[in-house]
Amino acid sequence: MSNYRILFQLSGSIACFKACNLISMLVKNNFEVVCSTTPNALKFIGISTLEGLSGRNVYHEMFESRPKKALEHTELSKWYDLCILCPATANVINKMAAGIADDAVTTSFLAHDFKTPYLIAPAMNKNMYDHPTTKRSIMTLKQMGVTVLDTDFGRQACGDVGNGRLLPPEDIFEIIANKLNTGPGEK
Ligand SMILES: Cc1cc2nc3c(=O)[nH]c(=O)nc-3n(C[C@H](O)[C@H](O)[C@H](O)COP(=O)(O)O)c2cc1C
Repeated sequence: MSNYRILFQLSGSIACFKACNLISMLVKNNFEVVCSTTPNALKFIGISTLEGLSGRNVYHEMFESRPKKALEHTELSKWYDLCILCPATANVINKMAAGIADDAVTTSFLAHDFKTPYLIAPAMNKNMYDHPTTKRSIMTLKQMGVTVLDTDFGRQACGDVGNGRLLPPEDIFEIIANKLNTGPGEK
């Protein structure tokens, strides 16, 4: 496939391990991937795993001192062809809809240029997904121009059965590829 540039954002969900499969799939298909995480995502997945899969530094701390670091959230928004937040927690979805920018992921979102696609793949417990606040936030984000993916119905990590499971990585891969219109010979 292509050399499209993907900013791959992760937030603190049990589904982070599934997102790793998707990152691997993207890299194997020649997408350039940079990962960015909320601090809580790093309680589910390690920086070394994300660096190993993407072959790039992970953007997770806004105030860490290193050359050019201070500008990364705005520089990144000019770098990528598509951004995906996967998995997207209820917390980060609600923060984004409210315009809160207090970590690397939400600050990058506020610096997002809507000329490029921004995808959100929710993953959460069914009650969090069906909560009126989350529903309203998803609607708000869609109205902004964000592509909010559906979720799967099924058994959840907590044992509940319902909506809110992350879509299979293969399905999300197809959605990304279609969004970028990638095919043999493109980019
Ligand atoms: C084991 C475990 C699994 C969790 N899985 C999810 C999840 O799949 N989706 C979700 O929205 N929150 C989940 N949470 C709650 C979030 O981690 C919590 O709301 C956190 O503040 C999210 O931080 P972030 O959105 O800044 O990454 C989980 C918490 C624990 C302890």
